[in-house]
Amino acid sequence: MIRARGLTKTFHRKKETVEAVKGIDVDVREGELVAFLGPNGAGKSTTLRMLTSLLEPTAGTAEVAGYDVSRDPARVRSRIGFIGQGNGGGYSYRVLDELHNQGRFYGLPPAEYARRAADLLAALDLGGLEKRTVQSLSGGQRRRLDVALGLMNHPPLLFLDEPTTGLDPHARANLWEHIAAMRERYGMTIVLTTHYLDEADSMAERVVVIDHGEIIADATPDALKHSHADDVITLAVVPAPGAGSLPGGAPGERSGAVPDVVGRVRASLTEDVGQVETTSGADGVVSVRISTTHGADRLPEAIEALRVGGLAVRSAELQQASLDDVFLNLTGRSLREEAARARAPTSRPRPAGRRRAPTRSCGPGSRSSSPTPGPSSRARSCSCCGTPSR
Ligand SMILES: Nc1ncnc2c1ncn2[C@@H]1O[C@H](COP(=O)(O)OP(=O)(O)OP(=O)(O)O)[C@@H](O)[C@H]1O
Ligand SMILES: [Mg+2]
Repeated sequence: MIRARGLTKTFHRKKETVEAVKGIDVDVREGELVAFLGPNGAGKSTTLRMLTSLLEPTAGTAEVAGYDVSRDPARVRSRIGFIGQGNGGGYSYRVLDELHNQGRFYGLPPAEYARRAADLLAALDLGGLEKRTVQSLSGGQRRRLDVALGLMNHPPLLFLDEPTTGLDPHARANLWEHIAAMRERYGMTIVLTTHYLDEADSMAERVVVIDHGEIIADATPDALKHSHADDVITLAVVPAPGAGSLPGGAPGERSGAVPDVVGRVRASLTEDVGQVETTSGADGVVSVRISTTHGADRLPEAIEALRVGGLAVRSAELQQASLDDVFLNLTGRSLREEAARARAPTSRPRPAGRRRAPTRSCGPGSRSSSPTPGPSSRARSCSCCGTPSR
C-alpha cells in the first residue's frame, strides 16, 4: 500500500535549514495499522504530508495506494483519506454542509454524498448534530467529524495525524472505538502518528519509531520491547523461617549471601537473563533486581528457585518493558518526559528518569528484520486512556 524510499524533506527558511525528514524507507502492507511514534519535531507530520502528496519531497520516492506521490498526486488523493493534526472542519460551517462539501470536492453525485454523509454521521455517533456549527462541537465530536470528512471518499488507505491529541481519556477511548469500527467496516489500511506510548502499544500492529527525521526502529510493539528493553523483576529476599541466615554466610553473617543469591537466581531461570543485581539492606533483606525478557514467566521460576534454596521472598514486583524504555534505550531520552516538557514549556526541565540498562546489544539503526503485522492476540486496555485494544 505504501513504499517509500529515501524520502527526504529539507526546509529552508531565511538563513535556517531544517532537515525534517532524512531519507526514510518505509513499507506498509494492505490492511496494516501502523503508528509513527516520536517526539515533537521528529518529522512525523512532514512524513505524512509527503505521503499524502501535500508536500513535495526534497528527494526520494513514495508510491502510495498504487501511485507515485510526485507524478500522480491527484490519483493518490482520490484513494486516501487524510486527517490532519488540526481540525479540518470550517468553524462557522454546519456539520452536514461540511460533509456534503467534502463529497462535492471528490466529485460524488448529490444522492451519493448525501447517503455517505448520513451513513458516517450515524456510524461516528454524530446523529442529531447535522445543523450544529463545527465550533459548537466538543473536542471529541469535532475529531469524529474529522474522521467522517476523511472517510467521505471511502478510501482504502487512511492517514491520521495525532487523531487523539488533546482529547480527554474518555473521548480518546471513544474515538479509538470508532476508528476500529470504521477500519473493520471499510477494511482500511491505517497509518497514524501519535505521542501516546500506551496508545501505540495497545492499538498499533506495527510501530515505526522516528527521531530527528530518521526511522530508528520498526517492528510490532512486542518485538520492539523484546529487542530493545527488558522487564524488571524486583524481589525482597530473606532467609526462610529456621534457615538462620542467607546462604553462603555463616549463621548470623550476611556477607557471603549476595553472590550466592545471584548464582541461585541465574541457575534457575530457563532463559538467559541480562543482569541480576543485589543490594543488602541493613535489616537483613536482600533486594534482588533481575533484568530479563518475558518477566511474567521468569518471576515464578525465580521465586521457586529461591524457596528451594531456603530463601523466602517477602515481596515481588514486575515492571514490564514499555515503548518508553525502548525509546530510552535507543536514544538515551525519555519520550514520556519529552512529551511532558512539551506540554509544560515554561516548567524547568526535570531530571532524567530511571534508565533501564540495556542488556542486549542494540542501538540506533538496529531494526527488527521481520515486522509481523496482523491482529494481535493481546486483549487489554490502554492504561493512559482506557482505550480498548483490538
Ligand atoms: N513549513 C516548515 N518550514 C520550516 N520548518 C518546518 C516546516 N514544517 C516543519 N518544519 C520543521 O520540521 C521538523 C519536523 O516537523 P514535523 O511537524 O514533521 O514534526 P512532528 O514529528 O510532526 O512533531 P509534532 O509531534 O510536534 O507534531 C521540525 O523541526 C519543524 O519545525
Ligand atoms: Mg506533527
